[in-house]
Amino acid sequence: MILPITQYGDPVLRQMCTDITPEYPNLKQLIANMFETMYNASGVGIAAPQIGLPIRLFVVDAEAMDEENLKGFKRVYINAKITEEQGEKWAYNEGCLSIPGIREDVSRKEQITITYFDENFVKHTEVYNAKIARVVQHEYDHIEGKLFVDYLSPLKREMLKARLTNITKGRADVDYKIKIPKLK
Ligand code: NI
Repeated sequence: MILPITQYGDPVLRQMCTDITPEYPNLKQLIANMFETMYNASGVGIAAPQIGLPIRLFVVDAEAMDEENLKGFKRVYINAKITEEQGEKWAYNEGCLSIPGIREDVSRKEQITITYFDENFVKHTEVYNAKIARVVQHEYDHIEGKLFVDYLSPLKREMLKARLTNITKGRADVDYKIKIPKLK
């Protein structure tokens, strides 16, 4: 089932997400729905807050990045913790399904070490570099209540202000289902 994607301005995108247990209701279905929602929106990753749930869950499928070494890289991350970030910072152009139409260069460290549970609650520790590290860092930020625009300079953010406000009001031009934030 394709779920509506929460948009910039929705408070759920700013929540620190909480761990889940294997008993989390309908977890397998939820994960399947997240993949379906992500593919429908042509994303390479999606995190639970983006479908309205403040839990530590995100999924990645890097197939669409069209790079030889990322073929078949598909993962489910439950209760993930990035334990180390190392290396030189490098700039990469990021976008987000919750911030449609905006892409900006963001600098992050080159390598990460991450510990997580997969969909069968088997624990893994993996080290990623470069682009796959980047995708995981971006999704990981979502479960920590952070968005890529947080890394931009105040000037850059000021320049994007009107467009961000439009997104919050549901005025962005998107070809997937969105959930417009209910603002007070
Ligand atoms: Ni995102």
